Amino acid sequence: MKILKFSTYEEMSSAAADIFAKQINIKNDSVLGLATGSTPIGMYQKLAEMNKSGMIDFSKIKTVNLDEYYPISPENNQSYRYFMNDNLFNHINIDKDNTYVPNGSAEDADEECRKYEELIKKLGGIDLQVLGIGHNGHIGFNEPEESLYLYTHKTGLTESTMAANARFFSEDEVMPNAALTMGMGTIFNAKKIILLVSGKSKREVFKQLVTDRISTSCPATLLKLHPNVTVLCDSEACGE
Ligand code: PGA
Repeated sequence: MKILKFSTYEEMSSAAADIFAKQINIKNDSVLGLATGSTPIGMYQKLAEMNKSGMIDFSKIKTVNLDEYYPISPENNQSYRYFMNDNLFNHINIDKDNTYVPNGSAEDADEECRKYEELIKKLGGIDLQVLGIGHNGHIGFNEPEESLYLYTHKTGLTESTMAANARFFSEDEVMPNAALTMGMGTIFNAKKIILLVSGKSKREVFKQLVTDRISTSCPATLLKLHPNVTVLCDSEACGE
């Protein structure tokens, strides 16, 4: 696992966008694995700027997102589908039919997960996956547990994740307490992975990540077993 430290969130986001731009320019029909949350927003803004200035072309790119709340309608402004349209897809020349997010309104969640896993395989696998990290060390919605799932599955959200994400929901909105998420194996099948860690509130989990131990009680530590992972962090997250 390689660790790159940046002074600011801005610099971290630019470097992450550069890694994506390089991937797109090497392979113009890449399959990109995307994430939601506040951390990748800066990177998405940079990618949209690069697209506008003609530095990168998304016309043949395909994307698969890590996860989605369940149940939730894709039109709901708290859904991850809505987030992706709003923060990236509406601002770049991507064909929305080539963008995939697990369907939070599927009647049969298990069937949706099976189909999603199949879809990623059919696309040829993920070339580059971006991840954020939860305060509890989750990646996607693979929450700390004694054992973790390999493939895309439905999962309940932990109290800590519910609390961290509650800020996005207004008082009269019911926050879903479950999600559909890629499993550890789905993520590990990505050829390259970048993990973004930003802000003081991530300092504790960052420390856990860089110790020499791996544990399902901090799922992100398992990334140390993947051959091509780069962690990009800002100084607030990693300290001196
Ligand atoms: P955040 O979420 O970027 O909003 O901190 C990260 C995550 O929970 O994976």
